[in-house]
Amino acid sequence: MSSFFFTCFFFLFLLSNSIHTSFSLTPKGVKLPLLHRSSLPMYSNETFQYILETNHKFLTLKFAEAKYIVETPMIHFSTAGLVYFLNVSVGNPPVPQYLLIDTGSSLTWVSGHDPRKQYVYDPYESDTFMFIGCSDPKCTSNSIFTCHEQNKCGYTTSYGDGSGSSGLLGYDDFGFVKYSDPDNPSMVEGVFFGALSNISSDMKVDNDPRYNGILGIGPENTSLINHLPGPKLFRYCAANLSSPNEPQGYFFFGELEGDYDDVQTTPIIQGYDQYIVEIVSICLDGVCLEIDPSVFKNIQGNGYTGVLIDTGTVLSYLADGAYDAVEQAVSKIMESKNKKKSPNKASRLCYEGYMNDLVHEYYPTLTINFSGGGAKMIITHTEYLVQYFQSSYCLAFGKASEFGEIYKNRTIIGLLSQQNHIFEFDLDHWALGILGDTTCDVPL
Ligand SMILES: *[C@@H]1O[C@H](CO)[C@@H](O)[C@H](O)[C@H]1NC(C)=O
Ligand SMILES: *[C@@H]1O[C@H](CO)[C@@H](O)[C@H](O)[C@H]1NC(C)=O
Ligand SMILES: *[C@@H]1O[C@H](CO)[C@@H](O)[C@H](O)[C@H]1NC(C)=O
Ligand SMILES: *[C@@H]1O[C@H](CO)[C@@H](O)[C@H](O)[C@H]1NC(C)=O
Ligand SMILES: *[C@@H]1O[C@H](CO)[C@@H](O)[C@H](O)[C@H]1NC(C)=O
Ligand SMILES: *[C@@H]1O[C@H](CO)[C@@H](O)[C@H](O)[C@H]1NC(C)=O
Ligand SMILES: *[C@@H]1O[C@H](CO)[C@@H](O)[C@H](O)[C@H]1NC(C)=O
Repeated sequence: MSSFFFTCFFFLFLLSNSIHTSFSLTPKGVKLPLLHRSSLPMYSNETFQYILETNHKFLTLKFAEAKYIVETPMIHFSTAGLVYFLNVSVGNPPVPQYLLIDTGSSLTWVSGHDPRKQYVYDPYESDTFMFIGCSDPKCTSNSIFTCHEQNKCGYTTSYGDGSGSSGLLGYDDFGFVKYSDPDNPSMVEGVFFGALSNISSDMKVDNDPRYNGILGIGPENTSLINHLPGPKLFRYCAANLSSPNEPQGYFFFGELEGDYDDVQTTPIIQGYDQYIVEIVSICLDGVCLEIDPSVFKNIQGNGYTGVLIDTGTVLSYLADGAYDAVEQAVSKIMESKNKKKSPNKASRLCYEGYMNDLVHEYYPTLTINFSGGGAKMIITHTEYLVQYFQSSYCLAFGKASEFGEIYKNRTIIGLLSQQNHIFEFDLDHWALGILGDTTCDVPL
């Protein structure tokens, strides 16, 4: 732990001491602040409960259309409770853009025309933008890329719920705005992305005017991670989701130094366009629950199995066999503490009252053990329970079959469970490292 923080501070120190640090010249690590949606300009009055419920509602709608399988990114561009953003300045002269961090999709894109937005990035006004021609091998490498007017390569993606995005493909410089020195972003030259993107939705919800697009850090070739000069590695740590005014966590990419033997890993299964891993057991207070581990197995060619690590989902969803065991175990604990169940529309396991009332009581931790190299997540009760409603709190896991029977063996680890953990995605070794971190410390 201590060596980890030392290293990060060290990189930051290095970077902040050299003006116009170019990421492509010094492929050192760079640490960026995660921005919670409520700290973006034009912040409205949405509550944490609203974010939770909206995210859940959209996912359920998406999954309800059985088209929605693992080959489709887990995202909806409207006000779907998307939580974490990076502040990126695109092009020359640079235009500030808030891009949603998404491990669930790989193409980065920036929206075009939107009169409500303060800053709109127009590739025609950037000195460094380059379009991709239709005969470029890149343009023929992926079925979502097609030829648009004037020999320009474009893309069109559509999503299970009928929403989608389309635009023109090209390269431009991205400046990642740092904590220490926001006026001198770390530059990555020639990032491959979609520009002038249109967002389509048939769900009759306004597109969210507060952010400008997606930063796709999924595992596919198009991913930003494959366009970095350093190692194909990123890590992030999301702090308390319901407390956006405190430090919100960080996102890091680039080269690591020092000893990382203490980061235990689990293999990322290759060949998918999302990050899929496997769980071997879930334990409460050191006692592993009776769960058939085959409910977590990824079955090759079956897009409805395995364990997804996703930043576009807020709650977590457990394969039915695992959910039932966890619900029963948590229910037993709450019963022993005389907590009163609260009936609710969402038919979740909920209790009357407030999370803050639990602070002086002891609750066991939940451990999720992953396959392979010993990676595990230790989830405290403030993470496996969540103030889901105004005056009742609920289990922060949903049951996979809420999305339909076919999903009953699918698990999604969403942001609420990910809080206070460092997730390190190493695409050179296809390994996911996980490390508990109670602060997600932000050097200011
Ligand atoms: C937010 O404010 C708008 C009016 O500005 C109101 O219509 C809406 O109900 C409010 N939403 C919440 C969640 O309070
Ligand atoms: C984003 O970065 C720009 C500089 O490019 C800065 O002016 C702005 O304040 C930053 N926004 C936030 C929310 O930090
Ligand atoms: C995006 O929408 C604009 C305005 O409707 C249109 O002119 C443009 O062709 C669209 N671009 C793509 C790539 O669909
Ligand atoms: C992705 O990149 C790898 C390595 O460069 C290559 O072997 C593979 O064919 C590429 N896949 C696609 C779909 O372009
Ligand atoms: C998260 O923030 C909320 C709101 O500020 C607070 O009530 C809660 O105790 C915090 N949770 C943790 C685990 O610190
Ligand atoms: C999983 O974690 C628990 C609690 O830390 C531990 O007791 C158990 O041995 C682990 N199980 C496996 C299979 O790694
Ligand atoms: C889910 O997994 C169980 C146990 O491996 C298996 O028996 C069952 O057929 C699977 N169900 C679906 C819908 O894939």
